[in-house]
Amino acid sequence: MPHPTLPSPARRQLLAAASLTTAAVATAAVATGAAAPALAATAQAGKQAPGAGKAALVTGSSRGIGAATVRRLAQDGYAVTVNYLRSRDLAERVAADIRAAGGRAIVVQADVSDPAAVRRLFDATEKAHGGVDVVVSNAGIMRLAPFGDMSDTDFDEMMAVNVKGSFNVLREAARRVRDHGRIIALSSSITRMRTPTYGPYAASKGAQDLYASVLAKELAGRMVSVNAIAPGVVNTPLFTDGKTPEQIAGFAQRTPHRRLGEPEDIANTIAALCATDGWWVSGQTVFANGGIV
Ligand SMILES: NC(=O)c1ccc[n+]([C@@H]2O[C@H](COP(=O)([O-])OP(=O)(O)OC[C@H]3O[C@@H](n4cnc5c(N)ncnc54)[C@H](OP(=O)(O)O)[C@@H]3O)[C@@H](O)[C@H]2O)c1
Repeated sequence: MPHPTLPSPARRQLLAAASLTTAAVATAAVATGAAAPALAATAQAGKQAPGAGKAALVTGSSRGIGAATVRRLAQDGYAVTVNYLRSRDLAERVAADIRAAGGRAIVVQADVSDPAAVRRLFDATEKAHGGVDVVVSNAGIMRLAPFGDMSDTDFDEMMAVNVKGSFNVLREAARRVRDHGRIIALSSSITRMRTPTYGPYAASKGAQDLYASVLAKELAGRMVSVNAIAPGVVNTPLFTDGKTPEQIAGFAQRTPHRRLGEPEDIANTIAALCATDGWWVSGQTVFANGGIV
């Protein structure tokens, strides 16, 4: 009797053939030197869009990193679910743009800190798209204060969304993402930068690293890759609100490229992990931060 979580012999053969093909292309590219880019481009041209026939759900995708991610995944062919808490108009605009470009998108309001709402979010996704292949647990909030000044309310709200909310999303993803899927949780490079006032927020983001590394192992045998993405300083209200232009410029100067990250920089990294060739990266925290740490 085959182990229920291991690939069948037939599937293992298919996987072995697929990795041989990839290896053969890589070897040929190295061998031909200057011709390599052309070969890679040809191989690329023959590929299907990575999201063709698949569905992606991105929490907190009315704006910021989530909106850029859902737009990018739609460009890659995924049918997408745009989720928001309060910004209905922004979420509807993201979906309208995707549909205008020929994509498929639904909009679902759900507070990720509410487990029942998260179940409804997944139900709506499965009903509209026939299943779910990619889940990005992106919704998050940030409250900053030195330890001595942090209020119980700010601490509790942040943990409810970032720690419990992401757990609610990842639990549902673990139950529902189809084989060969991807699950990604938004961490932060603050887990390494450790800037004053960021203590509880950094702890809530460190939880994402642990969630991803453990869940990757729990889903062994289903070809589902699970990772955390750790952006650095990204040009969204979450980062810029409450900071002076000088403080923002100071953070930008700390990056080797002397600029903040843009939401699209993070969306592109997420898309790379979701692409067929990205699947071997699993259980990791990927620091997409332009080199700030
Ligand atoms: N920006 C950065 O520099 C940075 C760096 C590292 C990591 N991150 C992480 O990246 C993620 C996205 O950040 P961002 O900068 O794009 O933030 P943002 O621009 O403030 O957007 C936050 C998104 O999350 C949604 N949201 C908030 N609370 C929610 C809840 N309880 N349920 C469902 N959705 C909720 C918001 O929906 P509404 O619009 O409806 O409120 C919005 O769509 C966060 O997890 C953040 O910690 C950001």
